Amino acid sequence: MRELHEIQTYYENQTRTFGRAEITRDHRRIARVITTVSGLSGVRCDALELGCGNGAVAAVLVDQGMVVTAVDFNGPAVEIAKTFESTRRGRLIPMQADFYTVVLPGHFDLIYYWDGFGVGTDEDQVKLLSRVKNWLAPDGVAVIDVFNPFYWSQQHGSSSVYEAPNGEKWKRQLEFDFQESRMVDCWTSLDNPAAETRSQSLRCYSPANFSMLLTSTGLAIRDLYTSDGLKITEGDASPLRERTSFLAVLEDCMESS
Ligand SMILES: C[S@@+](CC[C@H](N)C(=O)[O-])C[C@H]1O[C@@H](n2cnc3c(N)ncnc32)[C@H](O)[C@@H]1O
Repeated sequence: MRELHEIQTYYENQTRTFGRAEITRDHRRIARVITTVSGLSGVRCDALELGCGNGAVAAVLVDQGMVVTAVDFNGPAVEIAKTFESTRRGRLIPMQADFYTVVLPGHFDLIYYWDGFGVGTDEDQVKLLSRVKNWLAPDGVAVIDVFNPFYWSQQHGSSSVYEAPNGEKWKRQLEFDFQESRMVDCWTSLDNPAAETRSQSLRCYSPANFSMLLTSTGLAIRDLYTSDGLKITEGDASPLRERTSFLAVLEDCMESS
């Protein structure tokens, strides 16, 4: 398993190559899905984004009046997030920090982690989810985007080419580690053969496996959705077949005990 600093270097390099200070239709769509599945559409509340990257989704929620603390240990990405800080309806608070150790003031009505859950070991996920539970305000909701093994296992061996903002072409090769249920993402510069290949892996969970992770965390699944906001009902796995991930909407199950 990669050391934390290696994971950080991977993401920082990816931002240096592909990062853009822009809010796209996709960021607006993601923000809409998060507020819809959490039942917080139109609510001006306190939110925490884990692994916020360039902060564009947080900026959309801030435009809707939320106060969003946006945490990422990726320095170049947080620098981009800072450019979205001003002239917004709510408040954006970008923080460069590791979410396994950061100390956050207060509690949050909404906590979300989009595209990134699964770095590290199962124990790491449990540690993070336990922290999420402690950061939730009473009646707070967490939305975790979980990579779907049914999708990623079918992508094993596939590749595509992406163009960076500076025009450089990069090949993305996807592998799936069937033993560990991990999606392995490898990027190689096609224009600079001397550049090292970058890779990172994310643990993929079925809804049943994800639910087992929660056992000791004090969190429970309220609902499951596809990443495009379609509700997944018990016994019907078909919506998952083609989706890269599913959304686990979580609540504190210790609150009333
Ligand atoms: C794939 S990116 C997604 C960024 C953003 N959520 C989005 O959808 O555009 C995952 C992000 O999680 C961040 N991340 C991973 N592990 C982290 C940690 N331990 N603490 C803080 N951020 C972390 C990475 O730096 C990276 O920016």
